[in-house]
Amino acid sequence: MALQLGDTVPDFTQNSQLGPINLYDFAGDSWVVLFSHPADYTPVCTTELGEVSRLRSEWEKRNVKTIALSVDSAESHGGWICDINETQNTTVDYPILADEDKKVSDLYGMIHPNSLNNLTVRSVFIIDPNKKLRLQITYPASTGRNFQEILRVIDSLQLTDHHQVATPVNWKDGEDCVVVPSIPTDEARTKFPKGVTEIKPYLRMTPQPNK
Ligand code: BEZ
Repeated sequence: MALQLGDTVPDFTQNSQLGPINLYDFAGDSWVVLFSHPADYTPVCTTELGEVSRLRSEWEKRNVKTIALSVDSAESHGGWICDINETQNTTVDYPILADEDKKVSDLYGMIHPNSLNNLTVRSVFIIDPNKKLRLQITYPASTGRNFQEILRVIDSLQLTDHHQVATPVNWKDGEDCVVVPSIPTDEARTKFPKGVTEIKPYLRMTPQPNK
C-alpha cells in the first residue's frame, strides 16, 4: 500500500557515506526532507544535491534535516560528493543513503518501474517531528527539483500547524493568508487582530498571524 499523507512513515536503518542511519534516531524532534535521486555521477542530481547543501542555513532555520538516497553504494557516494563539492561550491555534510538492497526505496515506493527501471525516481517526502508524512511529490528523472518550493511548503505547514489559516496560491512567507472556512467571520475578527478582509463570505484574508 502506497504511503499517504498523514501516515506514520516507516522507520528504517540503512547505510550511508556517514555510516548507518536510523531514520527515527536521526530525525529526533526535527522535520525531515527525504529525497531520492536516480543515480550517482549524473548531472541533474549533482546540481540538486549541491543546492540542498547550499541551503543548509534555510533548513536549520526551520529545524529540518535532509537525507538523500540512491541505490548506489556508500563508496560511490563518497567519491561523487567530492565532485559535488568541487563543482557546486559547497560541502555536502548530510547523509546520502546507500540503498543498494532497495529496502528504503521499496518501503517508500520510490521505484516506478514503468518510468525508470530499477532506479529511484525523484521522490520528495516531508516528514514532521511526529513522523507523519506531510507532503509527497514525485518528479521525473529529467526534471531537477525546485527546493525553494520545498522550503515554501515547510513554511506553510509550520505556520498552519499553529494558526487557523491556510496559504493561498503562490504564497510566500510574510504574505497574506486565508482564514480557514470553519471559523465564522465575527470570530475571525477577534482571532486575527491585524484584520480580516471579507472578499466573499467563504474567502477571507488576513495578514500572516506570526509576523
Ligand atoms: C541526472 O541526474 O542527470 C539524470 C539521471 C537519470 C536520468 C536523467 C538524468
